Amino acid sequence: MTMTAALATNDVAFDTSLVRADFPILSRQVRGRPLVYLDSAASAQKPRQVIDAERRLYEEEYANVHRGVHWLSQSATERFEEARDAVRRFINAAEEREVVFVRGGTEGINLVAQSWGRTNLEEGDRILISTLEHHANIVPWHLLAAERGLVVEAIPIFDDGQIDMDAYRRLLDRPVKLVALTQMSNALGVITPAAEMIRMAHDAGARVMLDSCQAISHGAVDVQALDCDFMVFSGHKIYGPTGIGVLYGKAELLESMPPWQGGGEMIARVTLERSTFKGIPHRFEAGTPAIAQAVGLKAAIDYVTALGMERIAEHEAMLHALAVERLSTIEGLTMFGSHPARAAIVSFNLDGIHPHDVGTIVDHEGVAVRVGHHCAQPLMDRFDVAATVRASFALYNTADEVDALVASLEEVRRLFS
Ligand code: ALA
Repeated sequence: MTMTAALATNDVAFDTSLVRADFPILSRQVRGRPLVYLDSAASAQKPRQVIDAERRLYEEEYANVHRGVHWLSQSATERFEEARDAVRRFINAAEEREVVFVRGGTEGINLVAQSWGRTNLEEGDRILISTLEHHANIVPWHLLAAERGLVVEAIPIFDDGQIDMDAYRRLLDRPVKLVALTQMSNALGVITPAAEMIRMAHDAGARVMLDSCQAISHGAVDVQALDCDFMVFSGHKIYGPTGIGVLYGKAELLESMPPWQGGGEMIARVTLERSTFKGIPHRFEAGTPAIAQAVGLKAAIDYVTALGMERIAEHEAMLHALAVERLSTIEGLTMFGSHPARAAIVSFNLDGIHPHDVGTIVDHEGVAVRVGHHCAQPLMDRFDVAATVRASFALYNTADEVDALVASLEEVRRLFS
């Protein structure tokens, strides 16, 4: 029996061995050792339910969407639009047309920068980003700033990795057009006080782009409760396929925005002289979309919903607490981001040992962690390091895997002693 089936029939406890059986890749060996996958923050593994949903579509119902009168096209269109509705329910958007399918979180942010940003921002306008952002929520604003003469300013953080709210308040004293904020740091796991920060931004007359790429798989994200103007996430970080992501935008904002890419599927009428465009969300979905990936994303959402986001968060909190406790006992280990509002990620360095050496050695024990700047170089600069080791936990990880991480780090220490 699968874990989702067990949960559907009884109120059973979260059983990781049943969950793991849903993820084929987790039973493989790496370098002759059982795989200990602690890199889900970079990309999560896929359950059979997601893989099967894509395979089933290709084997039984695949055709292009929104442009065929034939049965297969209509059927594929239904599957594609069902996926949009599944996303709407999952993030509690008010309407399906507020859900735009994009390639991933990065593309969603670029869409907002180029469409909303080019329409609404002019020379001298200020954008606030936080020091916690990963490059996807920095570089699009830098590109726009260079083009438009905008000013991008950073909200500082404390040494524990949390936003300095007083500094944020002061930055809002002068007019701000947009706050681009992560809901959860991909490099530290720190969870920002997003709802409060969004309220403050709105009081100051600013719009908010919320980057939920990390947060989406670790707890419920409710766009109406948060009241964010835009929100993005990527399918692959929530156990779904690569190549699909979501941009949520409040309907009245999306409606006010021009298309950002032109092509088939987003038009109302094209003559040789001019084009007119569809309404939202199709206006932002030029060309053949990622059809099978959208269907796979729906399967991923169904999967985590059946397990329960709360149960997932509890399980990950247990692993995180255990990892923090066990890592604290390792000599010469410095952890980054000690703020209590944290989830699923531990980021650290071993004194005198380069993170890449740590990553390479633990890999020989079958342990997959990410080492490097985690696409968050300004955050690394803030802590005066070039890189860290990051272990990230997901619904399929176990306490034994925390032990395996600790044992592999002890092996690193032994080799360097
Ligand atoms: N942003 C991804 C990460 O955190 C790729 O690793």
